[in-house]
Amino acid sequence: MPEYLLVVPDKRQVAASFSRAAGSYDAVASLQREVGAQLLARLPSLAFSRWLDLGCGTGHFTRLLAERFGAGMALDLAEGMLRHARLRGGARHFIAGDAEALPLRDGSLDLIYSNLAVQWCGDFAAVLGEAQRVLRPGGVLAFSSLCAGTLGELRDSWQAVDGFTHVNRFRAFGDYEALCADSGLQVLALERQARTLHFPDLRALTRSLKELGAHNLNPGRPGGLTGPARIRALAAAYEGLRTAEGLPATYQVVYAVLCKSR
Ligand SMILES: C[S@@+](CC[C@H](N)C(=O)[O-])C[C@H]1O[C@@H](n2cnc3c(N)ncnc32)[C@H](O)[C@@H]1O
Repeated sequence: MPEYLLVVPDKRQVAASFSRAAGSYDAVASLQREVGAQLLARLPSLAFSRWLDLGCGTGHFTRLLAERFGAGMALDLAEGMLRHARLRGGARHFIAGDAEALPLRDGSLDLIYSNLAVQWCGDFAAVLGEAQRVLRPGGVLAFSSLCAGTLGELRDSWQAVDGFTHVNRFRAFGDYEALCADSGLQVLALERQARTLHFPDLRALTRSLKELGAHNLNPGRPGGLTGPARIRALAAAYEGLRTAEGLPATYQVVYAVLCKSR
């Protein structure tokens, strides 16, 4: 396997998990909205008329993009997410599809906006290749993602309990840098920012991951139910990290703006 590929959960499982979470997602997605708003603020001030919200989820940002640029297009792997997004509107087409193989014509877009979706793609070089193909010369790819270090507290606490992969894997920031540099797109901005959320207890953190659809689906996760003894051991390990604000959960957020040469 080429070393730039990341081991991520099977796409059907990702789609099913996000479809199941579509009804609860908006109530718990405050970090996602915050990051998406920052990504919107980073867009070059141009009038993008042919745009795509890639990995649109329930369509919060599809709606905001439409208010700014007029109706565009939205695409997601999860049909359940698309059902919610269609109700919000903002796109002429809501497409079930995969960021690694876009069902769109060459040179057909001015802007691809993608908030916190591509961390689910094992082959990020393929995502960049597709962006390069479907953007017109001068077109912009703006994405946010998560990189290694995300949910590090949860990963470390599980390490104290057993050796299984309990936390989704994330690409190293250096891999984002290298893959963007090799993409043929011009990198206008690429940076990483840490953001730490706090939870009253472990149950609140794991519930929020589940309601987002972002709980662990990885190959290598333990089969069957996680026993009460191991959960108690996990909670005890995580308690060692408690601060005055609660149990910390850090997200390493990547922001990037790339442009296709004219
Ligand atoms: C954390 S949600 C973000 C949704 C939305 N962009 C937002 O900001 O609220 C991630 C979304 O990416 C979608 N997704 C995951 N892998 C994808 C892929 N390969 N192609 C397209 N969408 C994908 C999921 O179905 C999910 O709706």
